[in-house]
Amino acid sequence: MEFACKDFKVGKCEGQKVVDGETMPLLLEPVGPEKSNVESLLSALKENKEWFEKMIIKNSAVLLRGFNVKDPVEFNDIVETFDWEDIRYVGPAPRTHIHKRVWTANEGPLSEFIYYHHEMVLIKECPKKLILFCEIPPPEGGETPFVPSFKVTEKMLEEFPEAVEEMESKGLKYTFTALSKNDTASMRGRGWEDAFGTSDRAEAEKRAKGLGMDMEWQADGSVKTVLGPRPLTRVFEGRNGRRMWFNTVVGMHGKKISSALMADGTEIPENVVKRCEQIIEEESIQFKWEKGDVLFLDNLATLHGRRPSLPPRRVLVATCK
Ligand SMILES: [Fe+2]
Repeated sequence: MEFACKDFKVGKCEGQKVVDGETMPLLLEPVGPEKSNVESLLSALKENKEWFEKMIIKNSAVLLRGFNVKDPVEFNDIVETFDWEDIRYVGPAPRTHIHKRVWTANEGPLSEFIYYHHEMVLIKECPKKLILFCEIPPPEGGETPFVPSFKVTEKMLEEFPEAVEEMESKGLKYTFTALSKNDTASMRGRGWEDAFGTSDRAEAEKRAKGLGMDMEWQADGSVKTVLGPRPLTRVFEGRNGRRMWFNTVVGMHGKKISSALMADGTEIPENVVKRCEQIIEEESIQFKWEKGDVLFLDNLATLHGRRPSLPPRRVLVATCK
């Protein structure tokens, strides 16, 4: 059931799913052709701020379509309509600042799949909301699939109750190696100098500590960051007691530049990781980007990724506390 709002029309889009009675994403459109513009959208959002925020929490994802949002300036105006504070991105993805609160999303090669994650899941303070704007829709592929995180926990508990409880009680430990300099040919190629905003090692260590990471310098100038213990799942206020799959085990387990273990050093069984990867894919939701789309994701409730795509594709992002 959707709560009614006189300033938006609820629409349908390809790929929507009903999860626990809620449509994901909730698609909101102009109530008439005369409202298909950013000015109308901004005033509709201002009028219905609280309602809109409730919808993001209730449906986990809200897609605005048909308002002719054209550029980063207009997108920024939408972001700034709300009183959500900005949160600076920290992580391995190469990103460029575009305008005020607007950044490019991961600039890694479009041919690569960016694996599902909660944005900044390993950082102490991660964004509550992730807002994405499609300036140039990809000709093929390039979807931003997302997954209701609690569904993953549900399925994993059904299939691997013991492994889940073991990982939960022990906690998880991750490592990630950041290069010394940026490697723009990789989606995780952000060098530590850029990632920590300094070329001073001591300063980088201090900043890393502040984010809850330890650092081990490597002979080649790269640095291994160690994070943990971190929880496997989390329950957040206002989200129906749902247990979110708030970790990055599948994305980091057994990779060349990253690892995921239980916090006491116990290996996570390969079959558990493999099956989890399938479950995440099975539960994923995807829609086709259209020019001017703006997607609001509840980052505490959804994992998101990026499918490989043909160029050109330009999706911009803002992250909020
Ligand atoms: Fe992301």
